[in-house]
Amino acid sequence: MQLRKDKWSYDHEKDSPRAMESIPYSLYYGTFVDTPELGEIRIRTKCLIGVNQQGVIDFIHPDVEQPSVLEVFKHNYVHFDSVQSYFNQFFFPGFIDTHIHASQYPNVGIGLNIPLLDWLKIYTFSLENSFNKENFKVAKDIYTKVIKKTLTNGTTCASYFTTIDTDTSKLFGDLLLEFGQRGFVGKVCMNHNTDYPEYQETEAESLNSIKHLIEYFDGKNPEPETLVKPIITPRFAPVCTRSLLKKLGQVSTENNLPIQTHISENKGEIQLVKKLFPECQNYASVYDDHNLLSSSTILAHAIHLSDSECKLIKKKSCSISHCPTSNTFIASGEAPVKQYLYKHKINVSLGTDISGGFDPSILGIVRQSILVSHHLSMKTNNNSDKLSLNDALYMSTQAGAIAVGMESEIGTFDIGKKFDSQLIDLGGMSSSIDLFDWQLPNKSDDQDELQSKILNLLNKWVFSGDDRNCLKVYVNGRLVLDKSNQWVLVN
Ligand code: GUN
Ligand code: FE
Repeated sequence: MQLRKDKWSYDHEKDSPRAMESIPYSLYYGTFVDTPELGEIRIRTKCLIGVNQQGVIDFIHPDVEQPSVLEVFKHNYVHFDSVQSYFNQFFFPGFIDTHIHASQYPNVGIGLNIPLLDWLKIYTFSLENSFNKENFKVAKDIYTKVIKKTLTNGTTCASYFTTIDTDTSKLFGDLLLEFGQRGFVGKVCMNHNTDYPEYQETEAESLNSIKHLIEYFDGKNPEPETLVKPIITPRFAPVCTRSLLKKLGQVSTENNLPIQTHISENKGEIQLVKKLFPECQNYASVYDDHNLLSSSTILAHAIHLSDSECKLIKKKSCSISHCPTSNTFIASGEAPVKQYLYKHKINVSLGTDISGGFDPSILGIVRQSILVSHHLSMKTNNNSDKLSLNDALYMSTQAGAIAVGMESEIGTFDIGKKFDSQLIDLGGMSSSIDLFDWQLPNKSDDQDELQSKILNLLNKWVFSGDDRNCLKVYVNGRLVLDKSNQWVLVN
């Protein structure tokens, strides 16, 4: 029998925030897998990486034989982490979830097949509306659980929506720092919620709240890092007035802050936008006309875009957050992601969209994105609608980094980037994956055999792995989660 031990030795009531802990100069040795370009997987074996006290990758030496050189390094540096089992384990960049509603976490799994606008009215607005000073304890419980759950699944950075409430949005940012996760805090802005008028704010309240949050988070980060940052979040066009949209565009420009919103998720929603904004050419133009489209804008869902909207989104260098699980769960549609990536050359990242989506794991979303693209291709009879494993893994990391404006800081293992990483373990007692000796690389394999075996292992990880294969999580060079002693044998 296996017993799961509590891996959160960290006590956030007593201990100082994880994000404030100093980072020892560290060495990591093993197999490093990442996706520097769309469609490309890079595998570096016997690779030694040095990470400095700022959490930044200092050097990368592939093909270093153990133990001679390592021994020398070991004595000079403070921390050393070597992958133990020869090729069962590898480092992969931390996942970047570019669209997740932290406040909706209790609703995970609820609301199957309810169309978006009804789903919002029936399930979502009432839950979000419960976040306020009086319900601080409940909010803290929900926000703590969602951060733990995403970290457990290897998400080192996420662009979150909270709710319209200022106090609990501040709390959420504090919790990110406590657990050491990199995150964008999107206090939701909405002043025109005719479907659920109890849950809205005035324009002045919305703008004051943002101003307050910007000031609050200004002094919160551990110098010189920026782990937590506000993101301007008009929920979506139907619940914002023209004036609020325009002002939010200004706040973003004046404070150099990114923007996130929803676009073109559901056909009923698109019709509503047409009715509410008849002067605008299309849904994307509504945002463009209010100065909300730029290289730091994340547009979630983007399922039913027209060609001219794709052109506009490309011209403005916005990113899309593809949310295949949510799009399937509430039956919104199949986004033609491969076309966005290769024909329109738009940056497309991945989002869990909790709780439209039920899966908090970006590994799960990688899998779903591939399966949904296969369904789309069977429908269109077009093979070029199919995403490859390489495409999807790129979307989960480097494309996410581009979406959040951090492509020179996170997303891959390169000198000068922050060490935001997960250690994947395909073996081990808790793994759901059965490995066979002949599938594992061994020392006599040549480079081609090695690469092809590791690629197969990557496929096994994506299609049959889960959070149990995510052994350690590092953010900015800090070990924020270590499950290596989590499983014990009893009996
Ligand atoms: N559109 C506007 N708000 C939401 C939301 O909370 N979830 C999803 N999936 N779409 C939205
Ligand atoms: Fe959403």
